[in-house]
Amino acid sequence: MTDALLQIRDLGVAFPLRDGGGWLPVVRGVSLTVGRGEVVGLVGESGSGKTLTALAVLGLVPPPGRVTAGSILLAADGGGAADLLKLSPEALRRVRGGRIAMVFQEPATAFNPVYSIGFQIAEAVRAHRPVSRGEARREAARLLDRVAFPDARRRLDAYPHQLSGGQRQRAMIAMALAGRPDLLLADEPTTALDVTLQAQILELLEELQRDLGLAVLLITHDLGVVAETCDRVVVMRDGQVVETAGVEELFRAPADPYTRELLAALPRLEAAP
Ligand SMILES: Nc1ncnc2c1ncn2[C@@H]1O[C@H](COP(=O)(O)OP(=O)(O)OP(=O)(O)O)[C@@H](O)[C@H]1O
Ligand SMILES: [Mg+2]
Repeated sequence: MTDALLQIRDLGVAFPLRDGGGWLPVVRGVSLTVGRGEVVGLVGESGSGKTLTALAVLGLVPPPGRVTAGSILLAADGGGAADLLKLSPEALRRVRGGRIAMVFQEPATAFNPVYSIGFQIAEAVRAHRPVSRGEARREAARLLDRVAFPDARRRLDAYPHQLSGGQRQRAMIAMALAGRPDLLLADEPTTALDVTLQAQILELLEELQRDLGLAVLLITHDLGVVAETCDRVVVMRDGQVVETAGVEELFRAPADPYTRELLAALPRLEAAP
C-alpha cells in the first residue's frame, strides 16, 4: 500500500445509556488506513457506525457521545504523525478544514442561508491562509471553477437557495478544498442526487484525487459507487470492521459472509470479470 496518511487504530465510540449507568458502544475496535492519494470506501448498512467513525477523526462526535478508545494518527508532512485524539481543541480546529475536510450528504447544512456562496468560500480560504478579502474572493472563483461549477465568476454572489442540488454539492466541495486538504471525508456525498448528477460528482472526486493527490474516505452504502470510485474498501457491520480488501479482490472473492450478502443485494453489477 501507499504511504499511510490516516491511521485509525482500535477506535471506540459510545453513547451513555438512557437509564443512567453504562455506555452503549456503537463503534468497536475499528482500524482502517487511508494512504496518501488513496480513495478508500467505507461501506455498511445503516447504523453500522460509518458516520461516527468519520466524525471521530475530526473530534465531532456529538455529545453526550464520546471516543472511548483508540488512536487516530495523521501523518505530518515532514515525517512522524500526530494522534488527533490528543490534540488541543485549537490544534484540532486547524486540522479541520485544513489538512482534513469533510463533505456531507446534505449540502444545505454546510452553508449559512444568509450569505452568498462566494463570501462563504472566501471566508473558508481566509480561515486557513493569510490572504486579503480580494484575493480570497478570486480564490473562491478559482475553486468553483475547479469543481466545474457553471459560470463560477458570475455566480459568486448567489445564495445557497438559488442553486440546484448538484450545484450546491459542487459548491460544498469547493468550500472543502479551500484549506487545501490532503484528505477529504465524504459522507454519502451523492445519495441525495439523481443518477446522472451522482456520476458527475463521483467523477469530480476521482479527478481531484488524480490532479491534486487528494486522499478520500468515501462513505456510502452503495457498492456500485465503490466499484467505480475506490481503490480499497472497508466493510463495517454493527460498529465493527468485518472486512478490508482491494476493490477488485472484494468483488472477486468477498471473504466475509456479510460482504457477500451486500454484493448479492447489488442489482446493477454484472458477474465479476
Ligand atoms: N447522537 C446519537 N445518540 C445516540 N446514538 C447515536 C447517535 N448518533 C448515532 N448513534 C448510534 O450510533 C450508531 C452508528 O451511527 P452512525 O450514524 O455512525 O451510522 P451510519 O453507519 O453512518 O448509518 P447511516 O448509513 O444510516 O448513515 C447507530 O446505531 C446510531 O443509532
Ligand atoms: Mg451515516
